Amino acid sequence: MNTTRTQVAIVGAGPAGLTLAHLLHLEGIDSVVLEDRSREYVEARIRAGVLEQAIVDLLVEAGAGERLQREGLVHHGIELQFAGERHRIPLSDLAGGRAIVIYGQTEMVKDLIALRLATGGPLLFEVDNVSVHDLDTGRPVVRYRHDGREEELECDVIAGCDGFHGICRPSIPDGILSEFSREYPFGWLGILAAVAPSSDELVYAHNERGFALLSLRSPELSRLYVQCRPDDDVSEWPDDRVWEELQLRLGLDGWTLAEGPVLEKGVTGMRSYVCEPMRYGRLFIAGDAAHIVPPTGAKGLNLALHDVRVLAEALVDWFRSANPVGLDAYSDTCLRRVWRAEHFSWWMTQMLHRPEEQDAFDLKLQLSQLRYVTSSPAAATALAENYVGLTSL
Ligand code: FAD
Ligand code: DHB
Repeated sequence: MNTTRTQVAIVGAGPAGLTLAHLLHLEGIDSVVLEDRSREYVEARIRAGVLEQAIVDLLVEAGAGERLQREGLVHHGIELQFAGERHRIPLSDLAGGRAIVIYGQTEMVKDLIALRLATGGPLLFEVDNVSVHDLDTGRPVVRYRHDGREEELECDVIAGCDGFHGICRPSIPDGILSEFSREYPFGWLGILAAVAPSSDELVYAHNERGFALLSLRSPELSRLYVQCRPDDDVSEWPDDRVWEELQLRLGLDGWTLAEGPVLEKGVTGMRSYVCEPMRYGRLFIAGDAAHIVPPTGAKGLNLALHDVRVLAEALVDWFRSANPVGLDAYSDTCLRRVWRAEHFSWWMTQMLHRPEEQDAFDLKLQLSQLRYVTSSPAAATALAENYVGLTSL
């Protein structure tokens, strides 16, 4: 077995792992990033698209936001649609001028991979059999297979950035973690379509046929979602059916949804999940590896980057001055924001989705909540400050 050494072994080259690697590089801390998929696969995976202002600022300050600044679309409001009407929530007016930026996670990942390779930092794709060991000692180890060779990576710290289905969290011994979760009887069928977006701003629509969302990626690319069953297969959703549902759920008198070729299609299940603490010994878990939110609040990607910002700062203090305060506080610091996002995402989800057998009382409550949030400045401000990202937590 070939043995190498680094300061931080990072498992997973998603947004969390790649951003952490770059933030550490800027501070002169070595890391090795291990990813089990191919570069092509990681760069093609279509996922989130809404960035909080603070996350945009983080990437720009770290020198990873050049294309994001050029191509990202700044939005100052979103629309909520229900009972046949659209209501604008003026996010920036309500949230101290802060905005969101629409920039595909796929594009962010491409930028971060290019940056990592340009800075010469190790980033290995298509590694197999990744396992983590000796987590409760001062010399943790990651073992993996790459190019047919067994490898051992000795390090000071392991960052588990390997997503919800990764191996880091399950490597923590039984009895250490507390887990909190909720399943929803909904899924999202998402498409990317080669057609100019029919609305300048995102439209979140409550409809008797189920939720729908109009989003975008660029002036030429629309991103659209319809509520489906969590176990639906994409084969049950031919393009005609997707467009028909989108037309029915988003349609309004005097407004048309333009259709175009569907470039990509996928179903995402919806769940809430948090594990506590986000640390075991020298293993720190970040992003989807530690928590999942339903996508309705657009928080998953943002939370992942907030985690690694906190982790990077704590690691700098620890490596530079042997100061463990930040690392010891890592889990509690992150979990404050995580639980706020969990609540917000759950709240948006239950306000906008229609269960198959909806109780008439629950429907009246949803509509009342939507009316309140679109007519009361206090309620609209609560939505806006959560959506653009809270600054104090
Ligand atoms: P990930 O992006 O999951 O990255 C983890 C990485 O680790 C992956 O590259 C994975 O291949 C790798 N990995 C896994 N196991 C191993 C292993 N054993 N060894 C090495 N590498 C490993 N959020 C929104 O806000 N809006 C959305 O519309 C939205 N849509 C989504 C659709 C899907 C299908 C999914 C899964 C998530 C979606 N999310 C969405 C959530 C958002 O994309 C995630 O919160 C975000 O990707 C989290 O980043 P991460 O780096 O923590 O995890
Ligand atoms: C998108 C995804 C979300 O989860 C959301 O709430 C808004 C927009 C998107 O992919 O564009």
